[in-house]
Amino acid sequence: MQSHPVIQARNVAKSFPVGGGAVTVLQGISFTVQQGEFVSIVGPSGNGKSTLLNMVTGIDRPSAGEIIVCGRPVHRMSEDQLAAWRGAQVGIIFQFFQMLPALSLLKNIMLPMDLAATYPRHERRERALALLDLVGLADQAHKLPALVSGGQQQRAAIARALANDPPLLVADEPTGNLDTNTARAIFGLFERLVAQGKTVLMVTHDKELAQRVPRRIAIVNGRIERDERLPASAQPAVLLAA
Ligand SMILES: Nc1ncnc2c1ncn2[C@@H]1O[C@H](COP(=O)(O)OP(=O)(O)OP(=O)(O)O)[C@@H](O)[C@H]1O
Ligand SMILES: [Mg+2]
Repeated sequence: MQSHPVIQARNVAKSFPVGGGAVTVLQGISFTVQQGEFVSIVGPSGNGKSTLLNMVTGIDRPSAGEIIVCGRPVHRMSEDQLAAWRGAQVGIIFQFFQMLPALSLLKNIMLPMDLAATYPRHERRERALALLDLVGLADQAHKLPALVSGGQQQRAAIARALANDPPLLVADEPTGNLDTNTARAIFGLFERLVAQGKTVLMVTHDKELAQRVPRRIAIVNGRIERDERLPASAQPAVLLAA
């Protein structure tokens, strides 16, 4: 598969108004992520990691600079354009799962398909069931989120992020609220998705997991302090086989 850039950030800066002045959280960040890369974002708390993810997903806008994601200039799109684009191109996974509590896991996963209408109505239920099966939850499809474990909710959230088959998955501390073994299982799921050609950008505080990611970008004080690639020999076999 020929790889192409999925994320191109050029001098992305972000300031927030605070009191009478402004606080600068991102100080001009530039990087490129190619299709099929697995990239972790690490760095101390409060240094701009989530803010950077919000620039990639278009949840918030840069104060300056450009960010091109899946071929589109996210920094210049309207809210309506962003909503449609995000629904089809980006799967977002949060630390606290954020499943809708009144809907079954199955319905939670069908919802993005209903919103984006990327799949015909009659295919959505079957596709949602197939995604639940992919994450090992076929037998939990009709349960409400509160009735399954945190790890199961996060697997369902990953299935939901995959609903419209987006090329890019963006995750903000997806294992931050899980025990070690569950975190490893969720991480393994990301590795498998990358092996299948997805691009994953993941903020993590988990040092053990971050060491297994082939590329690691460290954000300190709103700047890229390091952008390191692991030697191939240190990468998990599943990635080398891709
Ligand atoms: N809407 C906002 N208004 C003002 N300041 C903000 C806003 N959003 C974020 N900040 C500030 O920007 C800085 C970076 O926040 P961010 O959430 O990006 O950090 P982070 O690296 O994700 O931290 P953590 O690891 O704790 O999640 C913090 O000082 C935060 O208070
Ligand atoms: Mg954060």
